[in-house]
Amino acid sequence: MNQSLHRDAESGGIRTCAEFSIRKAKPTDAMAIATVYVRSWQAAYPGLVPQSFLDSLTPEGQLGQWQMILASPLSPVGGALVLVTDEDRIVGFASFGASRDDNIEDERVGEVMTLYLDPSVWRRGVGAKLLNKSVEELARGGYHLAILWVLETNARARDFYEHMGWRRDGTSKLHDWNAFVATDVRYRLELARSQPSFR
Ligand SMILES: CC(C)(COP(=O)(O)OP(=O)(O)OC[C@H]1O[C@@H](n2cnc3c(N)ncnc32)[C@H](O)[C@@H]1OP(=O)(O)O)[C@@H](O)C(=O)NCCC(=O)NCCS
Repeated sequence: MNQSLHRDAESGGIRTCAEFSIRKAKPTDAMAIATVYVRSWQAAYPGLVPQSFLDSLTPEGQLGQWQMILASPLSPVGGALVLVTDEDRIVGFASFGASRDDNIEDERVGEVMTLYLDPSVWRRGVGAKLLNKSVEELARGGYHLAILWVLETNARARDFYEHMGWRRDGTSKLHDWNAFVATDVRYRLELARSQPSFR
């Protein structure tokens, strides 16, 4: 099947990858982003994090955090992007900026902090589109290396990142989510050599 075509889960119609666009996130996108975040977690993480935690997630509960993030720039080069259907529905988002790792002293290391898509649009080429655009923005901002952290057991996302050219760099850490603690592993991508393309 042509991967650029997919059946839209809600409309039942065929939607092409070109019918999604990417724009900068606005503070008024916070609720839509919180909704995608919750739907994505609840579809991607069963079996990986406690089910009681997933069941407790609500867009309303996540709203404040996203309002705060969207109200303040992440770093001089940072930002948040949303993936929007041609009907103006937000179905994904990504955020990026300077690396938050204490042990990275090089100021030219950027980080992709979040990348979440609504499950109705997984495996249609749009995660790649959003990741490439984030990486492109980091490269344009002067970063020569990008990192990201991903849950060690999140095989779907790790396989995606590896397919996209990212490589595990051997660093891991315990991430305290308050309700549970999980291991995150770090991936890296050389920006100068990757020449990311915006699909
Ligand atoms: C991870 C995620 C962003 C991937 O987005 P996506 O839109 O499904 O991925 P795409 O369809 O753009 O895939 C891009 C390429 O990666 C490949 N790919 C995607 N997922 C893959 C997987 N699990 N295993 C192997 N390859 C994969 C695709 O085949 C495609 O290859 P191609 O360019 O050669 O055709 C999406 O699944 C998601 O939102 N997951 C839940 C949230 C999450 O875990 N986020 C990461 C938090 S760190």
